[in-house]
Amino acid sequence: MAAAATLLLVVVAVVAGAAAAAETTTTHIKVYWHDVVSGASPTAVQVARAATTNSSASFFGAVVVIDDPLTSGPDMKTSSPVGRAQGTYISAGKDKVALLMNMNFVFQSGRYNGSTVAIMGRNEVFAAVREMAVVGGTGVFRWARGYAQARTHTLDMKTGDATVEYNLYINH
Ligand SMILES: *[C@@H]1O[C@H](CO)[C@@H](O)[C@H](O)[C@H]1NC(C)=O
Ligand SMILES: *[C@@H]1O[C@H](CO)[C@@H](O)[C@H](O)[C@H]1NC(C)=O
Repeated sequence: MAAAATLLLVVVAVVAGAAAAAETTTTHIKVYWHDVVSGASPTAVQVARAATTNSSASFFGAVVVIDDPLTSGPDMKTSSPVGRAQGTYISAGKDKVALLMNMNFVFQSGRYNGSTVAIMGRNEVFAAVREMAVVGGTGVFRWARGYAQARTHTLDMKTGDATVEYNLYINH
């Protein structure tokens, strides 16, 4: 009987611990993502493309590796740095420019310094709002789930350089 009571206490303690660990908060983060394709030091580099990839059409088949700066405001030069977006995007739409984004937001300042958020999703770049999944995270963002919404701030059609506003809504 004593053993059963002890076991019950242990079970209650484990369940209470699990309930405490399951408490989540939702964090909203707004950052500006800068895809620098042009110039001597691009942060987005095309590493592969299909023989049929057409740069006048949807770029279908192109693979780009990025280490894009993230800043608090839209001006890359004057806004404070927040971190980097590191990963790849693949042009996966044959008829429309639709990218498969696969990237980590690596925070390098403030209270999220050292933490990361993993984002994967479809980015139809000429749509006003593109929603992608937040599939995980590290550090402060362990166990993260959520979503990101991207809105183009500026796109230079001559150079391909772009600044995109990202709003992340993260449960963690
Ligand atoms: C590339 O796409 C443009 C625009 O859709 C089209 O006019 C052109 O014929 C395509 N080029 C090739 C080689 O398919
Ligand atoms: C972020 O954390 C790293 C490692 O602890 C530290 O070296 C760096 O100074 C921090 N950056 C900022 C802006 O606080």
